[in-house]
Amino acid sequence: MRIWSFEALVVGCIAAQGVTAQLLDPTKNYCCRFDHQSVIKNGILYIYMGSETFVDSQTYGLANGTITVGYNEYVISVNLSNSWDWKTNISETASNITADPSTGSLPPQVVRGTLYQGTQNDDSIYLYGGTTSYANTSFPGWQPPYPSTYSLWSYDPESTQWSQIDVGQSAPYRPSNGAAAEAVDQGFAFYFNGELDSGSSQGNGIITGTNVFVSGMVVINTTDQTVRNLSTIQVSADLARARGRMQYVPGVGQKGILVLIGGSSFEANLLDSTDIINLLPMTEIDVFDVASIYNTSTPDGVWYKQNATNQNATNVPSPRVDFCLVVASAQDSSSHNIYMYGGRDGANPPNYFDEIWVLSLPSFTWTSIYSGISPRFAHTCHLVGNRTMLTVGGVAAASQMQGLYSADPPTCDWEVKGVGVYDMSDLVWGSVYNATAPAYEVPDLIISTIGGSRIGGATMKMPPSNFSQNGLALIFGLNLDDNTEAPSNTAHKKTAIIAGTVCGVVGLASLVALAGYAAWRWRKAHKHPEEQVYEKDVCSDVHGGVVEQVQLQPHSTSEQPR
Ligand SMILES: *[C@@H]1O[C@H](CO)[C@@H](O)[C@H](O)[C@H]1NC(C)=O
Ligand SMILES: *[C@@H]1O[C@H](CO)[C@@H](O)[C@H](O)[C@H]1NC(C)=O
Ligand SMILES: *[C@@H]1O[C@H](CO)[C@@H](O)[C@H](O)[C@H]1NC(C)=O
Ligand SMILES: *[C@@H]1O[C@H](CO)[C@@H](O)[C@H](O)[C@H]1NC(C)=O
Ligand SMILES: *[C@@H]1O[C@H](CO)[C@@H](O)[C@H](O)[C@H]1NC(C)=O
Ligand SMILES: *[C@@H]1O[C@H](CO)[C@@H](O)[C@H](O)[C@H]1NC(C)=O
Ligand SMILES: *[C@@H]1O[C@H](CO)[C@@H](O)[C@H](O)[C@H]1NC(C)=O
Ligand SMILES: *[C@@H]1O[C@H](CO)[C@@H](O)[C@H](O)[C@H]1NC(C)=O
Ligand SMILES: *[C@@H]1O[C@H](CO)[C@@H](O)[C@H](O)[C@H]1NC(C)=O
Ligand SMILES: *[C@@H]1O[C@H](CO)[C@@H](O)[C@H](O)[C@H]1NC(C)=O
Ligand SMILES: *[C@@H]1O[C@H](CO)[C@@H](O)[C@H](O)[C@H]1NC(C)=O
Ligand SMILES: *[C@@H]1O[C@H](CO)[C@@H](O)[C@H](O)[C@H]1NC(C)=O
Repeated sequence: MRIWSFEALVVGCIAAQGVTAQLLDPTKNYCCRFDHQSVIKNGILYIYMGSETFVDSQTYGLANGTITVGYNEYVISVNLSNSWDWKTNISETASNITADPSTGSLPPQVVRGTLYQGTQNDDSIYLYGGTTSYANTSFPGWQPPYPSTYSLWSYDPESTQWSQIDVGQSAPYRPSNGAAAEAVDQGFAFYFNGELDSGSSQGNGIITGTNVFVSGMVVINTTDQTVRNLSTIQVSADLARARGRMQYVPGVGQKGILVLIGGSSFEANLLDSTDIINLLPMTEIDVFDVASIYNTSTPDGVWYKQNATNQNATNVPSPRVDFCLVVASAQDSSSHNIYMYGGRDGANPPNYFDEIWVLSLPSFTWTSIYSGISPRFAHTCHLVGNRTMLTVGGVAAASQMQGLYSADPPTCDWEVKGVGVYDMSDLVWGSVYNATAPAYEVPDLIISTIGGSRIGGATMKMPPSNFSQNGLALIFGLNLDDNTEAPSNTAHKKTAIIAGTVCGVVGLASLVALAGYAAWRWRKAHKHPEEQVYEKDVCSDVHGGVVEQVQLQPHSTSEQPR
């Protein structure tokens, strides 16, 4: 193994290329969609890019016709002002992307990046990070990676104008698979760590199938699009993290907190052959105090580490990646409940989860609220209509990314419009989104962990084993003692559980060889693009190259397989 060098940064420019061939319709020919970016803005759900498999037609997941692996190259929007039923009357609109008028460049066709909504007064949404997928480079409209200088783009849905923003000075690389969160009320967007691969930017010297984890938390002021990159050494001195998730929780402390959960970890800046490795335990939660970035004496902000359990210190979720998070607070703010849905792990064969767990704050307790037989990962989710978790896309198994899933359950997404609806208070899945649903209530299963009632009054006001540091207790309005303990800057030791699989038989020697090859390839880059080797992303998609078959219980299509 060797340290990946930054020598390969190439500055270039990609001119917009006309889309020549007929594209498959991303909504009519929908089979499944994953690794996309989505956000809610002004009551509209926007989905940009993402990998997609297409089919002539399908019936609740049952494919009719051959499946094509490709991409959603449109901005798909779903209006959330009125109620809809995805089985009958949902309306999805696909809009063509347009080039930035001042540069002629099209927005990058990235996967595993993020969309931010920007402040209430701002018409635009923002695309940050991501990487180019090589799953099907002959799909019409496919574009090679962009220079990472422009890893931030804005999009105004009304004028349909895209604009590229140069953030190269402050955050020169375009990370993917980082943990994103947004404090919309403060105009701050966050991207924690992440990774670089061969799709992150042109000619960066990283061969397809390998990756480099990056440290740092990128903080974007969405109002003036200025960017900072804070050190994350407080979270981990040497490890960086990918495929975890982060949630902004307003109303805690002076300016809210960010709650960082799960993911994969590996030494920063080292070339590796897999990014689903050393999964972090769900008992270990990192908390960022947003107020600390306004404080000039803490330029990198302040992080805390807190153990999470359940009430009886048993039954916590197993480590996982590629899940999604949404938060809902009790009406009296006595609890903040972070819902964690889906995901997968690095076992061989992998476990794919159809589970919903809730991390309640300030008790830092996990409660299991749902378990089913229709797993999902590489999806996104959003809180809409007071108490609804709207899920977007996702796949049930890695093989489904290649259009190869077993017949039962069906090959395509059984949610034929690519969205799902979950009532976070009554804990039921359905197809109807209710735009006028009543206020959020704490579900009974969570009450059994944290006490109180459906409207609040949680009796657990601190973790069963206490807060790890007084600084964190103070954020939650408690003072543990009179000693005002300063936040610990002690770098966290590597406690990660080794749960990842090393893909194929890539050993130390071959990694060095790959690094050598990457450097060689970089020197030859741009001369003969047709010589470049694009391999399938075997490592992150299909472990050990084995296409697994998942046998689940038979179900009728009238029954929802949740
Ligand atoms: C599959 O598609 C073909 C051609 O469009 C159509 O004739 C056939 O009825 C479809 N089969 C099912 C089961 O939907
Ligand atoms: C890649 O895209 C091309 C063009 O749409 C299509 O013909 C081909 O089948 C796709 N490859 C896969 C593996 O689906
Ligand atoms: C969404 O639907 C509402 C209610 O029908 C309508 O007023 C609004 O214009 C729609 N928004 C968009 C962007 O189409
Ligand atoms: C769609 O169906 C839902 C649920 O049946 C209903 O409440 C809503 O009014 C319908 N919306 C439209 C636009 O027809
Ligand atoms: C998108 O652009 C293509 C090529 O210019 C055109 O054929 C297609 O109709 C457009 N689609 C939409 C939804 O506007
Ligand atoms: C942020 O800074 C770290 C060093 O602290 C660096 O390794 C990383 O590449 C930077 N992130 C981006 C997105 O450029
Ligand atoms: C973001 O930038 C705007 C415009 O420069 C500035 O007014 C605002 O204070 C900045 N936001 C924060 C939270 O620093
Ligand atoms: C800013 O940070 C310093 C160092 O941690 C701390 O002593 C001070 O109280 C903080 N200021 C505010 C306003 O929180
Ligand atoms: C959410 O609940 C509140 C009551 O707490 C209500 O006033 C509001 O209208 C609800 N929002 C929606 C979108 O139904
Ligand atoms: C939405 O929730 C409201 C309040 O509970 C209820 O009256 C209405 O019937 C629901 N609408 C739908 C479409 O389920
Ligand atoms: C914890 O243990 C008590 C006593 O055994 C039991 O009543 C309770 O249901 C348990 N709670 C959870 C959340 O498992
Ligand atoms: C979390 O729990 C473990 C095991 O009980 C303990 O060793 C560790 O110090 C705790 N960490 C924190 C931050 O409290």
